[in-house]
Amino acid sequence: MLEVSLGGLRLRNPVMTASGTAGHSTELAPFGDLRSLGAIVLKTVTRLPRPGNPPPRLFETPSGMLNSIGLENRGVDHFLEQELPEVARVGVPVVVNIGAESAEDFAALAARVGEAPGCSAIEANLSCPNVQGGALPFSSTPAACGEAVRRIRAVTKKPLLVKLSPNVTRIGEIARAAEAEGADAVTAVNTLLGLAIDWRGRRTRLGAGWGGLSGPAIRPVAVRMVYECARAVRIPIVGCGGIASAEDVCEFLAAGATAVQVGTWNYVDPSAACRIASELPEMLRVAGFGHVRELVGCVRIEPGGAAGG
Ligand SMILES: Cc1cc2nc3c(=O)[nH]c(=O)nc-3n(C[C@H](O)[C@H](O)[C@H](O)COP(=O)(O)O)c2cc1C
Repeated sequence: MLEVSLGGLRLRNPVMTASGTAGHSTELAPFGDLRSLGAIVLKTVTRLPRPGNPPPRLFETPSGMLNSIGLENRGVDHFLEQELPEVARVGVPVVVNIGAESAEDFAALAARVGEAPGCSAIEANLSCPNVQGGALPFSSTPAACGEAVRRIRAVTKKPLLVKLSPNVTRIGEIARAAEAEGADAVTAVNTLLGLAIDWRGRRTRLGAGWGGLSGPAIRPVAVRMVYECARAVRIPIVGCGGIASAEDVCEFLAAGATAVQVGTWNYVDPSAACRIASELPEMLRVAGFGHVRELVGCVRIEPGGAAGG
């Protein structure tokens, strides 16, 4: 009753971890049975090691969190030697999330990780700044998104998830560009750009200045963006943003997501993703659903409704 497919990636259930919130490998294993997950999505890996941003890198906000980790990781060589083989032994699909500063680098990295044993699928983190495009994130425009996806698609047949930024006006158009260039699924969304200020100290709360807002505070925005993506493309959508319960998962599915990712809530409760996955079947059964796909996209908004008050 729970199996779903994202292109060629088959999942036993629709619940995955979200990149950057579940470690680089099996860090969550002491807190739950990782085999209860549909898939494990790992922290963004880049070609070279990255030290990340200066501290402080986390700041709590009402119902949410600002972070500016800065994609800290030990680089792809270390990842392929140490981290991926360990997580591959868990026995659930492993989605390798990649980041780069140019479309060429995305392709080079995708080619390497795509061939690695244990990589079930690739998720391209298109919130990375495109250095050749004025440092705007790749997923800021359909053209930059399409170019990155085209280059990645040319070098790997692995299922490709394209993770979009919510910091755009029309996310559906970006999702359409990803679909047109061969993405198997779209992940919506990454964090919302935010800023917190210690006004007495006359400084920002995060060492890097801006940060990305995540957690339940962003859930309605994420659900709306999943809906927009689902109306714009035929490929599956992976919903992400503020999920803290099986109830929240069902909300994303009703908006049009085929699968979901649990992120910030792993910091509140490191067993959250596993627990949510195990609570889902009973919740669906009690509500009268025979299969999770009956719920996907079951809600439609009447056109012409005004937004806001
Ligand atoms: C501390 C932290 C680190 C993150 N690191 C990454 C990352 O490396 N790559 C990525 O694609 N998303 C990263 N994200 C974004 C999450 O995967 C997710 O898209 C976002 O937080 C929204 O989901 P949530 O509200 O459930 O956390 C990070 C989020 C947090 C809170």
